[in-house]
Amino acid sequence: MQDLNETTITDAVRAQMSRTADPRLCQIMDAAVRHLHNFAREVTLTPAEWLEGIKFLTAVGHASTPIRQEFILLSDVLGLSALINALHDNEAAELGTQTSLLGPFFREAAPEISLGGSIIANPCVPLVTMYGRVTDTTGRGIPGATVEIWQTDEHGLYDLQKDGGAQMDMRGRVRCDAAGNYHFRTVRPLGYSIPLDGPVGKLVQAQERHGFRPSHIHFLIAAPNHRELVTALYFGDDAHVESDTVFGVSASLIVCARDDDPNTPIPDLAAVQYDFRLGREASQGTGRVGADPAATVA
Ligand SMILES: [Fe+2]
Repeated sequence: MQDLNETTITDAVRAQMSRTADPRLCQIMDAAVRHLHNFAREVTLTPAEWLEGIKFLTAVGHASTPIRQEFILLSDVLGLSALINALHDNEAAELGTQTSLLGPFFREAAPEISLGGSIIANPCVPLVTMYGRVTDTTGRGIPGATVEIWQTDEHGLYDLQKDGGAQMDMRGRVRCDAAGNYHFRTVRPLGYSIPLDGPVGKLVQAQERHGFRPSHIHFLIAAPNHRELVTALYFGDDAHVESDTVFGVSASLIVCARDDDPNTPIPDLAAVQYDFRLGREASQGTGRVGADPAATVA
Protein backbone atom coordinates (compact mmCIF):
# COMPACT_ATOMS: atom_id res chain seq x y z
CA MET A 1 0.00 0.00 0.00
CA GLN A 2 1.40 3.37 -1.04
CA ASP A 3 1.74 5.90 1.74
CA LEU A 4 1.13 9.18 -0.07
CA ASN A 5 2.08 12.56 1.28
CA GLU A 6 2.85 16.01 -0.11
CA THR A 7 6.14 14.87 -1.61
CA THR A 8 5.52 11.25 -2.68
CA ILE A 9 2.30 12.14 -4.52
CA THR A 10 4.29 13.53 -7.45
CA ASP A 11 6.14 10.30 -8.26
CA ALA A 12 2.96 8.28 -7.74
CA VAL A 13 1.18 10.31 -10.44
CA ARG A 14 4.17 10.13 -12.77
CA ALA A 15 4.31 6.34 -12.36
CA GLN A 16 0.64 5.98 -13.34
CA MET A 17 1.17 8.16 -16.41
CA SER A 18 4.39 6.46 -17.47
CA ARG A 19 2.60 3.92 -19.68
CA THR A 20 1.33 6.68 -22.03
CA ALA A 21 1.76 5.30 -25.54
CA ASP A 22 2.53 8.64 -27.22
CA PRO A 23 6.09 9.52 -26.10
CA ARG A 24 5.68 13.26 -26.62
CA LEU A 25 2.41 13.33 -24.65
CA CYS A 26 4.17 11.33 -21.95
CA GLN A 27 7.05 13.83 -21.79
CA ILE A 28 4.77 16.88 -21.75
CA MET A 29 2.42 15.57 -19.05
CA ASP A 30 5.28 14.31 -16.89
CA ALA A 31 6.84 17.78 -16.88
CA ALA A 32 3.46 19.47 -16.44
CA VAL A 33 2.67 17.43 -13.33
CA ARG A 34 6.12 17.96 -11.80
CA HIS A 35 5.92 21.73 -12.33
CA LEU A 36 2.28 22.00 -11.20
CA HIS A 37 3.03 20.09 -8.02
CA ASN A 38 6.13 22.17 -7.34
CA PHE A 39 4.08 25.33 -7.93
CA ALA A 40 1.44 24.21 -5.40
CA ARG A 41 4.15 23.28 -2.86
CA GLU A 42 6.06 26.55 -3.38
CA VAL A 43 3.07 28.79 -2.63
CA THR A 44 1.38 26.33 -0.24
CA LEU A 45 -1.77 26.56 -2.34
CA THR A 46 -4.91 26.34 -0.21
CA PRO A 47 -8.13 24.56 -1.23
CA ALA A 48 -9.96 27.90 -1.41
CA GLU A 49 -7.28 29.39 -3.64
CA TRP A 50 -7.29 26.41 -6.00
CA LEU A 51 -11.08 26.64 -6.21
CA GLU A 52 -10.64 30.30 -7.21
CA GLY A 53 -8.17 29.12 -9.87
CA ILE A 54 -10.67 26.58 -11.18
CA LYS A 55 -13.41 29.24 -11.26
CA PHE A 56 -11.05 31.51 -13.18
CA LEU A 57 -10.22 28.86 -15.80
CA THR A 58 -13.90 28.00 -16.14
CA ALA A 59 -14.69 31.69 -16.74
CA VAL A 60 -11.92 31.86 -19.36
CA GLY A 61 -13.57 28.96 -21.17
CA HIS A 62 -17.04 30.50 -20.96
CA ALA A 63 -15.72 33.82 -22.32
CA SER A 64 -14.38 32.10 -25.45
CA THR A 65 -16.66 32.19 -28.49
CA PRO A 66 -16.26 31.87 -32.29
CA ILE A 67 -15.15 35.53 -32.34
CA ARG A 68 -13.21 35.72 -29.06
CA GLN A 69 -10.50 33.42 -27.70
CA GLU A 70 -9.90 34.19 -24.03
CA PHE A 71 -7.38 31.34 -23.59
CA ILE A 72 -5.12 32.80 -26.29
CA LEU A 73 -5.40 36.13 -24.49
CA LEU A 74 -4.42 34.42 -21.23
CA SER A 75 -1.44 32.77 -22.92
CA ASP A 76 -0.47 36.18 -24.34
CA VAL A 77 -0.65 38.19 -21.09
CA LEU A 78 1.35 35.51 -19.23
CA GLY A 79 4.13 35.79 -21.82
CA LEU A 80 3.68 32.12 -22.73
CA SER A 81 2.84 32.86 -26.37
CA ALA A 82 5.95 35.03 -26.71
CA LEU A 83 8.08 32.34 -25.03
CA ILE A 84 6.77 29.62 -27.35
CA ASN A 85 7.44 31.89 -30.33
CA ALA A 86 11.03 32.37 -29.17
CA LEU A 87 11.47 28.61 -28.76
CA HIS A 88 10.06 28.10 -32.26
CA ASP A 89 12.51 30.69 -33.65
CA ASN A 90 15.39 28.76 -32.08
CA GLU A 91 14.42 25.69 -34.13
CA ALA A 92 14.63 27.51 -37.47
CA ALA A 93 17.00 26.18 -40.10
CA GLU A 94 17.71 29.77 -41.15
CA LEU A 95 17.05 33.00 -39.34
CA GLY A 96 14.37 35.04 -41.08
CA THR A 97 12.51 38.07 -39.80
CA GLN A 98 11.79 37.83 -36.09
CA THR A 99 8.38 36.46 -35.22
CA SER A 100 5.68 38.06 -33.09
CA LEU A 101 2.29 37.06 -31.79
CA LEU A 102 -0.58 35.90 -33.95
CA GLY A 103 -2.91 37.13 -31.21
CA PRO A 104 -6.63 36.46 -30.81
CA PHE A 105 -7.90 38.46 -33.82
CA PHE A 106 -6.61 36.46 -36.80
CA ARG A 107 -9.31 35.20 -39.19
CA GLU A 108 -9.08 32.67 -41.98
CA ALA A 109 -10.09 33.62 -45.53
CA ALA A 110 -9.22 37.33 -45.47
CA PRO A 111 -10.18 39.00 -48.78
CA GLU A 112 -7.66 39.02 -51.65
CA ILE A 113 -6.64 42.53 -52.67
CA SER A 114 -4.58 43.60 -55.66
CA LEU A 115 -1.13 45.11 -55.20
CA GLY A 116 -1.58 48.72 -54.12
CA GLY A 117 -5.18 48.12 -53.01
CA SER A 118 -6.68 49.29 -49.72
CA ILE A 119 -7.57 46.98 -46.85
CA ILE A 120 -9.87 49.60 -45.27
CA ALA A 121 -13.51 49.81 -46.38
CA ASN A 122 -14.36 53.28 -45.01
CA PRO A 123 -11.28 55.24 -43.92
CA CYS A 124 -11.91 58.38 -41.85
CA VAL A 125 -8.26 59.44 -41.73
CA PRO A 126 -5.57 59.78 -44.42
CA LEU A 127 -4.29 56.51 -45.85
CA VAL A 128 -0.68 55.40 -45.57
CA THR A 129 1.23 53.08 -47.88
CA MET A 130 2.90 49.98 -46.49
CA TYR A 131 5.49 48.56 -48.84
CA GLY A 132 8.65 46.48 -49.11
CA ARG A 133 9.95 43.13 -50.30
CA VAL A 134 9.66 39.53 -49.22
CA THR A 135 13.02 37.84 -49.69
CA ASP A 136 14.85 34.68 -48.74
CA THR A 137 17.73 34.92 -46.28
CA THR A 138 20.19 35.77 -49.09
CA GLY A 139 18.10 38.80 -50.11
CA ARG A 140 16.58 37.26 -53.25
CA GLY A 141 12.97 38.33 -53.76
CA ILE A 142 10.37 35.56 -53.52
CA PRO A 143 7.94 35.91 -56.45
CA GLY A 144 4.30 35.45 -55.56
CA ALA A 145 4.79 35.26 -51.77
CA THR A 146 1.49 35.91 -50.01
CA VAL A 147 1.32 38.70 -47.44
CA GLU A 148 -1.69 38.49 -45.14
CA ILE A 149 -2.43 41.57 -43.03
CA TRP A 150 -4.78 42.32 -40.15
CA GLN A 151 -4.93 45.35 -37.90
CA THR A 152 -7.13 47.69 -35.89
CA ASP A 153 -8.71 50.79 -37.36
CA GLU A 154 -7.86 54.36 -36.38
CA HIS A 155 -9.95 53.89 -33.21
CA GLY A 156 -8.13 50.76 -32.04
CA LEU A 157 -10.82 48.22 -32.98
CA TYR A 158 -10.57 45.01 -35.02
CA ASP A 159 -13.46 44.03 -37.27
CA LEU A 160 -14.23 41.21 -34.81
CA GLN A 161 -14.96 43.89 -32.21
CA LYS A 162 -17.43 45.74 -34.44
CA ASP A 163 -20.85 44.41 -35.46
CA GLY A 164 -19.90 40.95 -34.16
CA GLY A 165 -17.39 40.49 -36.94
CA ALA A 166 -20.08 40.37 -39.63
CA GLN A 167 -17.89 42.28 -42.10
CA MET A 168 -14.27 41.42 -42.89
CA ASP A 169 -12.43 44.73 -42.75
CA MET A 170 -8.94 46.01 -41.98
CA ARG A 171 -7.54 42.73 -43.20
CA GLY A 172 -6.52 41.35 -46.55
CA ARG A 173 -4.11 39.22 -48.54
CA VAL A 174 -1.80 40.56 -51.25
CA ARG A 175 0.47 38.58 -53.54
CA CYS A 176 4.01 39.85 -54.22
CA ASP A 177 5.07 40.64 -57.77
CA ALA A 178 7.78 38.75 -59.69
CA ALA A 179 10.54 40.50 -57.73
CA GLY A 180 8.97 39.87 -54.32
CA ASN A 181 7.65 43.42 -53.92
CA TYR A 182 4.42 44.14 -52.09
CA HIS A 183 2.49 47.28 -51.29
CA PHE A 184 -0.96 48.13 -50.04
CA ARG A 185 -2.82 51.08 -48.57
CA THR A 186 -4.17 51.20 -45.06
CA VAL A 187 -4.68 53.57 -42.13
CA ARG A 188 -2.29 53.87 -39.26
CA PRO A 189 -3.83 51.59 -36.60
CA LEU A 190 -4.37 52.89 -33.09
CA GLY A 191 -2.89 50.97 -30.20
CA TYR A 192 -5.53 49.38 -28.03
CA SER A 193 -6.33 47.89 -24.70
CA ILE A 194 -6.78 44.14 -24.60
CA PRO A 195 -10.40 43.26 -23.71
CA LEU A 196 -10.76 44.10 -20.01
CA ASP A 197 -14.36 42.92 -19.62
CA GLY A 198 -13.47 39.24 -19.23
CA PRO A 199 -11.59 37.17 -16.66
CA VAL A 200 -8.17 37.83 -18.23
CA GLY A 201 -8.79 41.58 -18.23
CA LYS A 202 -9.81 41.45 -14.58
CA LEU A 203 -6.59 39.59 -13.76
CA VAL A 204 -4.51 42.20 -15.62
CA GLN A 205 -6.27 44.99 -13.73
CA ALA A 206 -5.70 43.23 -10.40
CA GLN A 207 -2.01 43.21 -11.30
CA GLU A 208 -2.15 46.99 -11.92
CA ARG A 209 -0.98 46.59 -15.52
CA HIS A 210 -2.19 49.15 -18.07
CA GLY A 211 -3.44 46.48 -20.50
CA PHE A 212 -2.39 48.33 -23.68
CA ARG A 213 -0.72 47.09 -26.83
CA PRO A 214 1.21 49.63 -28.92
CA SER A 215 0.01 50.46 -32.44
CA HIS A 216 0.86 47.54 -34.74
CA ILE A 217 0.03 45.68 -37.95
CA HIS A 218 -0.05 41.87 -38.01
CA PHE A 219 1.46 39.83 -40.85
CA LEU A 220 1.35 36.20 -41.89
CA ILE A 221 3.68 35.62 -44.83
CA ALA A 222 4.00 32.41 -46.80
CA ALA A 223 5.68 31.04 -49.91
CA PRO A 224 6.28 27.47 -51.12
CA ASN A 225 9.42 25.86 -49.65
CA HIS A 226 9.80 28.64 -47.08
CA ARG A 227 9.04 28.77 -43.40
CA GLU A 228 5.75 30.52 -42.69
CA LEU A 229 6.33 33.83 -40.90
CA VAL A 230 3.92 35.12 -38.24
CA THR A 231 4.94 38.57 -37.10
CA ALA A 232 3.84 42.15 -36.50
CA LEU A 233 5.32 45.60 -37.03
CA TYR A 234 5.14 48.14 -34.21
CA PHE A 235 5.11 51.94 -34.49
CA GLY A 236 8.08 53.22 -32.52
CA ASP A 237 6.43 56.46 -31.40
CA ASP A 238 3.62 54.75 -29.50
CA ALA A 239 3.65 55.44 -25.74
CA HIS A 240 3.32 51.72 -24.93
CA VAL A 241 6.01 50.38 -27.21
CA GLU A 242 8.27 49.55 -24.24
CA SER A 243 5.54 47.95 -22.12
CA ASP A 244 3.39 45.81 -24.41
CA THR A 245 0.93 43.85 -22.24
CA VAL A 246 1.49 40.71 -24.33
CA PHE A 247 5.27 41.04 -24.86
CA GLY A 248 5.19 41.04 -28.67
CA VAL A 249 7.56 43.94 -29.41
CA SER A 250 11.16 43.43 -30.57
CA ALA A 251 13.55 46.17 -31.68
CA SER A 252 13.85 44.64 -35.16
CA LEU A 253 10.09 44.99 -35.69
CA ILE A 254 9.85 48.76 -35.06
CA VAL A 255 8.71 50.95 -37.95
CA CYS A 256 7.78 54.57 -38.55
CA ALA A 257 5.61 56.37 -41.09
CA ARG A 258 7.48 58.87 -43.25
CA ASP A 259 6.12 61.74 -45.34
CA ASP A 260 9.35 62.12 -47.32
CA ASP A 261 10.15 58.56 -48.43
CA PRO A 262 11.66 58.91 -51.94
CA ASN A 263 11.12 55.23 -52.78
CA THR A 264 7.46 54.83 -51.92
CA PRO A 265 5.31 53.50 -54.78
CA ILE A 266 2.53 56.01 -53.92
CA PRO A 267 4.26 59.41 -53.48
CA ASP A 268 1.26 61.39 -52.19
CA LEU A 269 0.79 59.23 -49.08
CA ALA A 270 2.92 58.77 -45.97
CA ALA A 271 4.81 55.50 -46.23
CA VAL A 272 5.95 52.68 -43.99
CA GLN A 273 8.68 50.46 -45.45
CA TYR A 274 9.67 47.01 -44.26
CA ASP A 275 11.36 44.03 -45.91
CA PHE A 276 10.54 40.54 -44.64
CA ARG A 277 12.94 37.58 -44.83
CA LEU A 278 11.70 34.02 -44.92
CA GLY A 279 13.92 31.10 -43.90
CA ARG A 280 13.92 27.73 -45.63
CA GLU A 281 11.10 25.39 -44.79
CA ALA A 282 11.92 22.85 -42.12
CA SER A 283 9.77 20.27 -40.41
CA GLN A 284 8.92 22.02 -37.12
CA GLY A 285 5.38 22.90 -38.19
CA THR A 286 3.58 26.19 -37.90
CA GLY A 287 4.69 29.13 -35.78
CA ARG A 288 1.11 30.16 -35.14
CA VAL A 289 0.46 30.42 -31.41
CA GLY A 290 -3.24 30.89 -31.90
CA ALA A 291 -5.83 30.48 -34.58
CA ASP A 292 -9.02 31.92 -35.95
CA PRO A 293 -11.21 31.89 -32.80
CA ALA A 294 -13.90 30.05 -34.76
CA ALA A 295 -11.48 27.13 -35.22
CA THR A 296 -10.88 26.71 -31.48
CA VAL A 297 -14.42 26.46 -30.15
CA ALA A 298 -15.88 22.95 -30.20
FE1 LIG B 1 -3.12 42.98 -32.50
